[in-house]
Amino acid sequence: MILLTSALFFVLGHVMSQTPDNDRINCYPEKGAVPLQTACVSERGCTWANDTDHPKVPICHYPADYGYEVTSKTRTVHGYRVQLRWKTGQSCAFSTPVQTVTLDVEHQTNNRLRFKFYDQSSPRYEVPMDMPGPDTAASPEYEVGIPDSGLFYINVTRRDTGTVIWDSSFGGFTFADQFLQISTKLPSRYVYGFGEHEHATFHHDLNWRTWGMLTRDESPGPPVQETAADGTMYDVERNNYGVHPFYMAMEEDGNAHGVLLLNSNPQDVTFQPKPALTFRTIGGVLDFYMFLGPSPEEVVQQYTQAIGRPFMPPYWSLGFQLCRYGYKNLEHIQNVVDSMRNYNIPQDVQYADIDYMERQLDFTLDHTNFHGLPAYFRQLQDEGMKTIIILDPAISKNETNYPAWDRGVQMDVWIKNEDQSGPAYGKVWPEYADEFLPGKMENASWDFQVENYRSLVGFPDFLKPSTHDWWHEQIVDFYNDPTEGIRFDGIWIDMNEPANFIPGNYDPTTNSGKCGNNIWNNPDYTPWVMGDLYSKTICMDAHQEGTDGTTYKHYDVHNLYGWSQTPTTLRSARVATGKRSIVVTRSTFPGSGKSGGHWLGDNTSKWDHLHKSIIGMLEFNLFGIPYIGADICGFWGEPDREMCWRWMQLGAFYPYSRNHNQKDVIAEQDPSAWGPEFAEASRAVLLTRYRLLPYLYTLFYEAHTKGSTVVRPLLHEFRTDRNAWTVDRQFLWGPALLISPVLEQGATSVTAYMPDARWFDYYTDSEVSSSSRGSNVTIPCDMDCIPLHVRGGYVIPTQEPATNTKTSRQNKFEILVVLNDDESAEGRLFWDDGESADTIESGDYLLLELRANAGGFTTIVTHKGYQPDSTTTIGSLKVLGLKSTVGEVKLNGVSTSRYTYRQNVLHITGMNIDLAASHEIRWSKTTSAAVHLIPARWQLLFVFAVLCALLT
Ligand code: NOJ
Repeated sequence: MILLTSALFFVLGHVMSQTPDNDRINCYPEKGAVPLQTACVSERGCTWANDTDHPKVPICHYPADYGYEVTSKTRTVHGYRVQLRWKTGQSCAFSTPVQTVTLDVEHQTNNRLRFKFYDQSSPRYEVPMDMPGPDTAASPEYEVGIPDSGLFYINVTRRDTGTVIWDSSFGGFTFADQFLQISTKLPSRYVYGFGEHEHATFHHDLNWRTWGMLTRDESPGPPVQETAADGTMYDVERNNYGVHPFYMAMEEDGNAHGVLLLNSNPQDVTFQPKPALTFRTIGGVLDFYMFLGPSPEEVVQQYTQAIGRPFMPPYWSLGFQLCRYGYKNLEHIQNVVDSMRNYNIPQDVQYADIDYMERQLDFTLDHTNFHGLPAYFRQLQDEGMKTIIILDPAISKNETNYPAWDRGVQMDVWIKNEDQSGPAYGKVWPEYADEFLPGKMENASWDFQVENYRSLVGFPDFLKPSTHDWWHEQIVDFYNDPTEGIRFDGIWIDMNEPANFIPGNYDPTTNSGKCGNNIWNNPDYTPWVMGDLYSKTICMDAHQEGTDGTTYKHYDVHNLYGWSQTPTTLRSARVATGKRSIVVTRSTFPGSGKSGGHWLGDNTSKWDHLHKSIIGMLEFNLFGIPYIGADICGFWGEPDREMCWRWMQLGAFYPYSRNHNQKDVIAEQDPSAWGPEFAEASRAVLLTRYRLLPYLYTLFYEAHTKGSTVVRPLLHEFRTDRNAWTVDRQFLWGPALLISPVLEQGATSVTAYMPDARWFDYYTDSEVSSSSRGSNVTIPCDMDCIPLHVRGGYVIPTQEPATNTKTSRQNKFEILVVLNDDESAEGRLFWDDGESADTIESGDYLLLELRANAGGFTTIVTHKGYQPDSTTTIGSLKVLGLKSTVGEVKLNGVSTSRYTYRQNVLHITGMNIDLAASHEIRWSKTTSAAVHLIPARWQLLFVFAVLCALLT
């Protein structure tokens, strides 16, 4: 044995390292690289050690003392400024590190910490996003540790528990122009988030997994294989449409925190089993925001406070929606809608995909096949339905008299090529007008079709203010155009990664795409994303412009394309419709939830996507985008009947509930397409959804005003229960409704975890045995069943359903009270007209506090800015979980006999009391005073509210 250094020695031909396997940060992180010992040691300044059998443990790792030294640390108003110097003579794998890096630590609030590494002497690109600045942090929940001198590290400790939630005292910290890397130890193995990817489990697998983040037109699915330098194959996880460098981690004691790396460059993260996490990005600055929770819900609330709270969807957008790619003509759409109606299946929204356009040109109508579409959509609207149309960002240049292109040129809206000599052209849709011979395309390869038959397109630069004006003009003009225009209610924006069917900018010599070989298109380090950075999009050196003359390389802002398109689309849709409207976007970034919802992209009609869609939904709720769902029954491929049936049941509980299908699938997959039995099952589950919509709508109000999640992982409600930390086959709506869908073929039962709470079966009102609390139960489940449980302690506002929300909104409310072990419950109802813009901001809404205990129930109007029509009253009240029998019921002091009491369930019907007034309902064997049922802090308010009601 020869001792090389204190950290390295040889055993039987192996170079050994004293750094434990799980502490080794990979110093050869590039895709497909074959590490070389000499390069590792002499060029990268790293440690070579091949002493492990584990195939994933890096063979070349950073020494623990690699990185920067602290040269000064001074106090600032909000924290510290620390100057760091690259250690003299140290090598770096990728370009020259910035020699002097500044770190600003800001105690922004008691629960929000920011620490940002940047280059003070040479400004670098930063995400053009408004984040809140420092506020008061009189007693921060965190403590930051940075040495006064010597090797730099930063750690963050939760003050009241002493848990270290961030600790970068590993080797490898680098701040080079195109390679910025930092690692941290994690306080537990339970980490959630980062996107957009399809993850197999909600909690991350920490066994050496790397996830690249670059927005890409890429369907969710298993990893793809790429070829390494030595010819072997390796897996790359798919990077999907959006980018979310945000995670939430649990601490061992049930506290939680969240971390955002505010950086929009191509990047990746690697988990390793220590547990530890490494961030690598190839531009910008390292700008971290940390949210201290301590509950997972509070983490999301604090995160959305910083990036922006979710938009408030119109009520109709919570109804069931139907779409497909490949509607052949108007009649095709009409037949589907009629068929839905024949079976009385609820439907609120009908879509038109790119089929409605003339050769897939935005803002046009195919007069041959969809001539009557505008009139038909107006008819649907008159009948109480809503419509959504698709718009793609890429605009064809090969047209004559095409205002979208011509005005775009006049207003100078296109992303430009590197030398700014013209637009960065790509090819997406449409086919060339004079070459539009679909027959020609049938036997040709995809690339051949694209290269030979597709027009050139320009990509609007949505970072630029003039582009907003142009887009607005196109949308509003199209809405109002008397011959072409469609009076949509919402807009679906697709292909906004931005997607391009050729790799890079159009090159006339090849008729395909090409990018110059430079540091933007081919940086030294390409994160773990599929292919080259420009594959399926434009070149990274393309030129973009922001406000006030700021310019950007597409390299820096590629991930912001959909993010920059969404708010301007929502504003335009609002102006066009004069209503609240909605935008559903494929590409997202932190903050997208402020103006858009999202669907999980082009999934496959396969059973495993049911489970994966739950994980995606939970993740997007963490990302502040609660208006989320997957294409029900799957986009690619023909669904199996049983799978589609089960997917309709699951999809009835997606906040965004839409069945959508791919063009080449011949058979229809909408719920009316499978015969009466299927239609009946879909109708039943959708009616359940519609009944629960007032609760869902209220959850969106909470999301909009407080940043709460809508679809909630069990761990958010049961954070000290370890079992809940890994549940991702079930989910909650808010705190109170547990959904345990069937996700497997042939299953006739569901194994559901029942956290420690009082639960009742939603359908039968029967209480789940208390012995099941905190354990798995097996629930028999035939094809008609999707298990739903309601949680003791909550009041759930529901409403008699109908086949669209216009009708259901006029029906009577049915209040469901689910008592806790101590026979109390509380809840809320938010109600407004469902479609006017900004009702919350203008105060035009109704807010009710709903409270119950062993002796009664009260509704207290805490905000009265909206009066529903006279038919929309509270019709009934059901109370589950009473522990003693009921002998008398009084409604606002007057006895009523319209109630039943059976098996601990009190059901009062025929109430018909004004929704917008405070009420008290009491039940007892004997009469007693009224006011004591109301908690002390509500008594004055209640008396005042009753007086007001009497006086008005
Ligand atoms: C891709 C989208 O993801 C899909 O939903 C849509 O149907 C097609 N583009 C056609 O517009």
